Amino acid sequence: MKPFYYKAGTSAKSLQPRLEVIKANMVIGDNSVLDVGCIDGSMGYHLIDNEYASHVTGIDIVDKFFDQRGTRFRFIKADIMTFDIGALPNFDMILFLNVMHHLIDENQNKARRVLAELMAHGKQMIFDMGSMTESKTPWLNTMRKNWKDDNDMWNDILSPYQRKKLFEYEQRGGTRTMFLLQEK
Ligand SMILES: C[S@@+](CC[C@H](N)C(=O)[O-])C[C@H]1O[C@@H](n2cnc3c(N)ncnc32)[C@H](O)[C@@H]1O
Repeated sequence: MKPFYYKAGTSAKSLQPRLEVIKANMVIGDNSVLDVGCIDGSMGYHLIDNEYASHVTGIDIVDKFFDQRGTRFRFIKADIMTFDIGALPNFDMILFLNVMHHLIDENQNKARRVLAELMAHGKQMIFDMGSMTESKTPWLNTMRKNWKDDNDMWNDILSPYQRKKLFEYEQRGGTRTMFLLQEK
């Protein structure tokens, strides 16, 4: 039995509401989905099981959480910062959820390029990331050096895209926001 990421705390509490928001922005049907930072595949399997996705490709830097089930979920163990995103096909929906703060912490310019390359592979993306309203997380220092608050950060890194605020939820004592991103 693999460890289960969504077992406790705010990650567990917000999983179902976040899934409902994702489904509300999709139509049931023959959709291909890319989930970057898919961890245990919970989101992709939920979309497959509920007929919102015909196929899911999930990418994660770790595979210790992921359990293969069936043939409609393709898992790729890779670092998205070095992975050849150009080799991927296009997707109907891209999920890029709670990964960007890790990438920014590593290399802000590269993180922006990863976001742009992913956006070029889909009609739309659902996106969220760590928030400056949270406390005691290692990546906060990098954020504070660059931006004064979440709005300042989003207005900067998400400025190339059309963005629609979808949902806010609590995470580690702060508030995270889910967006729908599309090319301008
Ligand atoms: C906080 S979890 C978010 C899981 C899920 N996407 C969600 O929003 O509930 C971040 C995930 O991104 C993965 N991750 C972090 N850096 C990554 C990278 N450079 N390439 C691929 N996956 C990465 C982590 O292994 C982890 O599974």
